[in-house]
Amino acid sequence: MSIEQPGLFGLSETKKLESPEEGREEQSLAYIPFIPGVKPQEAYLELNSLSQLEQRAKSCRQCRLREGCRQVVFGEGNSDARLMLVGEGPGMDEDLQGRPFVGKAGQLLDKILQAAELPRQEVYIGNVVKCRPPGNRLPHPDEVRVCRNYLEAQIRIIKPRILVCLGSLATKAIIDPQVSITMTRGKWFNRQGISIMAVFHPAALLRNPSYKRPTWEDFKQIRDKYYR
Ligand code: URA
Ligand code: URA
Repeated sequence: MSIEQPGLFGLSETKKLESPEEGREEQSLAYIPFIPGVKPQEAYLELNSLSQLEQRAKSCRQCRLREGCRQVVFGEGNSDARLMLVGEGPGMDEDLQGRPFVGKAGQLLDKILQAAELPRQEVYIGNVVKCRPPGNRLPHPDEVRVCRNYLEAQIRIIKPRILVCLGSLATKAIIDPQVSITMTRGKWFNRQGISIMAVFHPAALLRNPSYKRPTWEDFKQIRDKYYR
């Protein structure tokens, strides 16, 4: 498996364009999306702050999820974060509070971050989909396809050094749709200068305590890279 992609993160390359009528050079933007499958023209390149992007997401009606949830949970944290963590989508508590990872899984994530000496206020925490799927079902592929464009823009604006995929859905959405979380977790990937690691989802740890030990090993690696 190779997830290496050539080129710069994000912006731009100056190209000489043939412009016979005026004979001048033009700038062309050659944006290479970070998330596989995202189209540059759908990646909100015109929006350059998290608050602009959040406003756009809050009025989004591109999929059915918004009809069934209370509010859009955009994500939160340090807009300059060196570490960004990405989960699946809001659950009931997140939908009520408008913040990511505040329910049971979020409380476990807080404990893990604390144990790994990664202050929650220093990092950025988001999700692949921003609206709660009804009954906490998995987001459908078409929902992921439209909502990952916001995630792409969040990654472009924050430019984290380290990106952690929490659970299977984020791993498939960000690393590779073909990979399994059990085969992938704990390994570093590098794409466009960002180090990426998949770990088990905190909710999976609550269901399956045998995931706790390997997850702690993974977070020690994340801590070591964060402080290197
Ligand atoms: N699970 C997730 O994947 N994301 C949240 O924000 C909360 C629970
Ligand atoms: N299944 C998931 O969806 N996530 C995990 O972290 C583990 C199993």
